[in-house]
Amino acid sequence: MIRAQKIEKSYGSLQILRGLDFEVVSGEAVCILGASGAGKSTFLHILGTLDRPTRGTVYYQGEDLFMKSDNELSAFRSQRLGFVFQFHHLLSEFTALENVMMPGRIAGQNHVDCRRRAQGLLEYMGLAHRLTHYPSELSGGEQQRVAIARSLYHKPQMLLADEPTGNLDSENSQRIQDLFFQLKEEMGLTLVVVTHDTKFATRFPRSVRMADGQWVF
Ligand SMILES: Nc1ncnc2c1ncn2[C@@H]1O[C@H](COP(=O)(O)OP(=O)(O)OP(=O)(O)O)[C@@H](O)[C@H]1O
Ligand SMILES: [Mg+2]
Repeated sequence: MIRAQKIEKSYGSLQILRGLDFEVVSGEAVCILGASGAGKSTFLHILGTLDRPTRGTVYYQGEDLFMKSDNELSAFRSQRLGFVFQFHHLLSEFTALENVMMPGRIAGQNHVDCRRRAQGLLEYMGLAHRLTHYPSELSGGEQQRVAIARSLYHKPQMLLADEPTGNLDSENSQRIQDLFFQLKEEMGLTLVVVTHDTKFATRFPRSVRMADGQWVF
């Protein structure tokens, strides 16, 4: 589904990623481990086309993504990919429902359709009773579930998550972990997850480890 080839990333003379190859097949769940500063987030951002590599290529279903313009890439991302981060990045002045509706509103869909889709996703996340709450009125686990609901708005094929449980207590972390695997089963999502949590990592059929911008075998 997605294939990264010889990805390098440098900031000035500082090389962060040192020629990474990576491939994920459709429906697979892969976990990326590694110490702080290893380059995991940098790599995930490139894989998700949020950032361009200094050298190397990412193919999505055979198509060379970085041949696309920024506008084409942003359209690609919103249609195909979902992102979940350690900090949820919800908009504080909007309710849970409005936050989840946002991708639809940005895409110019009508209000009623957006509302129906967002409400359905929040109900699926077990948040039917939290629709009109603002992020500050939600627990950390609830905020993260709203963020996940928002990431699913356009029915992505692949979910990229950067320490999605990094900010949660163990009970909420467990719940988010379960949710990821439930999404994979029920929606056929492909998962690429960066985590420091070794227990979470053991639930993935495949994990890869990064150190100093390279894979460790
Ligand atoms: N914009 C930037 N300019 C310069 N250096 C950067 C930039 N972004 C990241 N780096 C450096 O790249 C290295 C890798 O960062 P990255 O965020 O990818 O690490 P990480 O593996 O995700 O770490 P963590 O587990 O702490 O999140 C770090 O040393 C960081 O300081
Ligand atoms: Mg990181």
